[in-house]
Order: sequence, then C-alpha cells, then structure tokens
Amino acid sequence: MWRELKALHDQAQGRRIGELFEKDRNRADRFSIEADGVRLDYSKTQIDDGIRKTLTALCDRRDLAARRAAMFAGALINETEHRAALHSALRNLDGGPVVVEGVDVMPQVRACLGRMQTFAAAVRSGALTGCGGPVTDVVNIGIGGSDLGPAMATLALAPYHDGPRLHYVSNVDGAHIADTLKALDPKTTWVNVSSKTFTTVETMTNAHTARDWMARGGGDPARQFSAITNAMERAGDFGIPPERAFGFADWVGGRYSIWGPIGLPLMIAVGPETFIEFLRGGQAMDDHFRAAPWGENLPVLMALTGLWHSRVCGYPTRAVLPYDQRLARLPAYLQQLEMESNGKSVAMDGSPVMGRTGPIVWGEPGTNGQHAFFQLLHQGTDVVPCEFLIAARGHEPDLAHHHRLLIASCLAQSKALMLGRSPEQARAKMAAQGGEGAELDRQARHRVFAGNRPSVTLSYPQLTPFVLGQIIALYEHRVFVEGVILGINSFDQFGVELGKEMATSLGPVLDGDDSTGGLDGSTAALVAFVRRNGA
Ligand code: F6P
Repeated sequence: MWRELKALHDQAQGRRIGELFEKDRNRADRFSIEADGVRLDYSKTQIDDGIRKTLTALCDRRDLAARRAAMFAGALINETEHRAALHSALRNLDGGPVVVEGVDVMPQVRACLGRMQTFAAAVRSGALTGCGGPVTDVVNIGIGGSDLGPAMATLALAPYHDGPRLHYVSNVDGAHIADTLKALDPKTTWVNVSSKTFTTVETMTNAHTARDWMARGGGDPARQFSAITNAMERAGDFGIPPERAFGFADWVGGRYSIWGPIGLPLMIAVGPETFIEFLRGGQAMDDHFRAAPWGENLPVLMALTGLWHSRVCGYPTRAVLPYDQRLARLPAYLQQLEMESNGKSVAMDGSPVMGRTGPIVWGEPGTNGQHAFFQLLHQGTDVVPCEFLIAARGHEPDLAHHHRLLIASCLAQSKALMLGRSPEQARAKMAAQGGEGAELDRQARHRVFAGNRPSVTLSYPQLTPFVLGQIIALYEHRVFVEGVILGINSFDQFGVELGKEMATSLGPVLDGDDSTGGLDGSTAALVAFVRRNGA
C-alpha cells in the first residue's frame, strides 16, 4: 500500500497544484469537508482522486473501524500499559454506558463533573475564600498534560473569562514560579496542584515552593490548596484532604485529560456552563468521527493528509499556524498530543516501524510568524506542509477591520505558497521597476518563489467554547487514526522516562557527590563547569 502511494507520489512529481484547480473547477469543494461548521480544505495539496482513494483504502486495510469501536467501547487498546483510552467518556454527556473491564464508568464521570461544578461555582462566587477574602487568583501547578491543555484553552477562551485570574506554572526553573507569585497576594490566592501521579519532580518542587510562599505570606495552605490526581493518598500526605481532591482514572492519558478534572482551572475561569459547551463541542466531533464515511470524515482526512506529507512525500516537519492569537499555545499543546503519542519507532507488536512515524510539529500564530520564519516556508530548501487555522469572525466587533486583515493575510499565505512566483513573473516585476540587463536577471532570481508548497486550512465560524471542543477532539482523533494506520500505540510514552531517570541520578553529582561516577566525558565537563561557576 505504501509502495502504491509512493508510485502515485512519483507520478505527481513536478505537477503544479495550481494546475489541479485549472483542470477541475470544483476542486475546492471536492477536496473540502465540513462537520458542524468546522471546515477542512485540503485542496491546496497534491492529493487527487486516485491518491485519496488509495489513502482511504488504508483505513480498511488497517481495520480502523474496529479499532475506533474498540476505543469508544473502553477496550484495553493501550496494550503496553493494559489500559483503555477513554477520554471520550469524559465528554459523553448524552451517551449511554461505557464499560471498562465490566464496570460502567459513566456514573463516576458524572459524579466527578458534578463535584467540579460545585467547586468551581464556590470559588467563583466567593463561597470558598482564602484567609484574606474571595479568591482573586488561581495558580495551577502542573506540567505536560497537566498544564498544556488547560493553559492553552484558558487563553483560547479569554472572551468568556469571568472568574478569578488564572496563572499556570509548569517549569522547574524557579524563575517561572517566582515571576508568577511575585504579584499575587498569598491570602487571596488559590493553588491547584495537577498531577496524575503526584510524583512529577517539577510539579512537586513548585507545589512545595508555593506552599511555603503562602504560609510565609499569611495565607493558609491547609485551606487554599486543591489537587487533581489519581494518587489521592500522596495528595493527602502533602496536606490536601479528599474533599478538595479530584481523581481521574488511569484510562485517561495526561495529554488527553483536559475534558475531566484537569480542566478544572478552565472551568473556574469561564464557569461551568461554558465548560459544558466546550465538552459538547468535543462530543459533537466524536459523533462525527464515529459516523462519517472515511472520505467525509474530518479527523480521518486530516490524518491521511498528514501521513501523505510525512510518510509518503517525506516532509519531516509540519507547521501549525493559527491565525488566531488566542490559539497561541495550540502548537505547544499539539507538540505533546502528537509527538508524545506518535513519536515511536516500534510497532504495537514490538517490531521496528519502517519509515517515518510522527513529523516534528511546530508553529506560531499568524501574522507574527510571517515576520519570522515564513521566509523559509516560501523560499527555503525544505518543503514544510502548513496547517492554517482561521475564524470567520473574531470576538471584537469594533475591531472588525483587524479581522479582515487577519483573514486576508491567512488566505494570501496559503495562496502564495501554492502559486509561487515564476522567473518570468519575477523578471517582469523587476523590469516594471526599471531594472535591466544582467543586474535584472540577478535580482530577479532572488525574487522567485518555487510555489507548489502544500497547505491545509481549517476554518470555523468563531472560536467559541463549542468550536474549541471540536478542534481539540479533531486533533485527538487525527492522532489516533495516524497511530492505527502506522500500527503503533499512541497512548504510552516510555520515551520520556530515560532522561527523567538520569536527572535523578545527576542531582547528587551536582551537589558534589562523586561516588556515582561513570559520567561520560561531555557530561563530566559540563558538571565541572557548573560547579566552577555555580553558587
Ligand atoms: O512527560 C511525561 C508525562 O508523563 C506526561 O505524559 C504527563 O502529561 C506529564 O508527564 C505530567 O505527569 P503528571 O500529571 O503525573 O504530573
């Protein structure tokens, strides 16, 4: 199958994407799909009918329908950890029972959501106070999946924010927590510690620092801390009682956890009703993913386009370019979601994976990126498939002229990447500016754009809570589909362990203990440098 796709790729070599539009007036419609208002346009790629047919055939070949059913049904599809992957149950608001190992998990999901709502409402209304009165600020301490989702979504839903101020601290670098806490009042600040394991060194170090800061400043950590974890005992040992701790099951992976208690800080910021709207968006995408045929299925088409570019065309990276300032953290969120899920080189059965798995995902919001790295996107030697995101309208009606410029920039960039500027066009442009002779030729060469650079555009009416839910669930399912087709387990993350283990053993070495020995030359030299120059 990959061989067939490679052959189609070879046949398409040199073909201009622009020509595909000239030959087919309906190409934009035939290569765009929509689900509940969210539209994916993948027409500005080399994918044609034959390629699409071969790509969608991969879904049947890899038994995607059965794998999808297994995931939603709570089967233990995370085979290396013997766990289900049931983040969809957290947004299964109107669905039926979901059974994991003989137990319907929905009563537990609903009870937890109810507790979150009561807690968030109490913080927002002032019923729950700090020592100095109503809560003015909430500091969420967590990292990875216990930070990126709520941090990204809190920014995304800023127009709906009517609760206390939210702050996110993740890095073990003391600068992060120091800069965050310095402007806050320990008597009116609430600290939430989010950690599935309650052992993550960054999170626990920051949690202890915050606890000391609060106690020193006249606040009461015994009253002003909450926890989100599935290690209730450890949270208790830290001093957070069960009535202020929210658990989540092991069938929710960290990077898929924003829909449940890990989303509590977001719920505090925007309120329970808005949070439920966000869940409804996720659920709508689940329904679409489960029902739509492969060729009309948003997550499936996004996954297949991604595999076409990374696996078949061999492009090693993909740029995510939200023309939506409030999605500024989306690229970072997707880096964990996609690269921690599919950055694997061993298949589910333990055999080596042949060929590329997940591409490197990176990006920045437009239009800022245009004034930074777009030079390389247009004229660099590497082709980088681009993913544009754009809302038809913003949240600032009195600044509609800004939004028009934003949309024009987004559409212009994908158009320019596709069409480019030929040597003839570049020469004509230089001639119109008075250039001539050899100098015109030399100058024109710098102004040629090869074009034919692929992109997809995801557009939506407005970045509402519902739409944000759709977008996040869309990306989750895209990752799942790519994982199934590649034959890998998207739900474990053993690759993060080795560095963590080595950091633990290096701690004492930095403190001057040489007994551990056995350092490689480079690490030993770096340790010596730090010892010479450190405090
Ligand atoms: O980076 C590895 C990881 O395990 C992520 O998968 C997870 O989101 C993050 O660390 C944080 O873990 P915890 O929630 O247990 O603190």
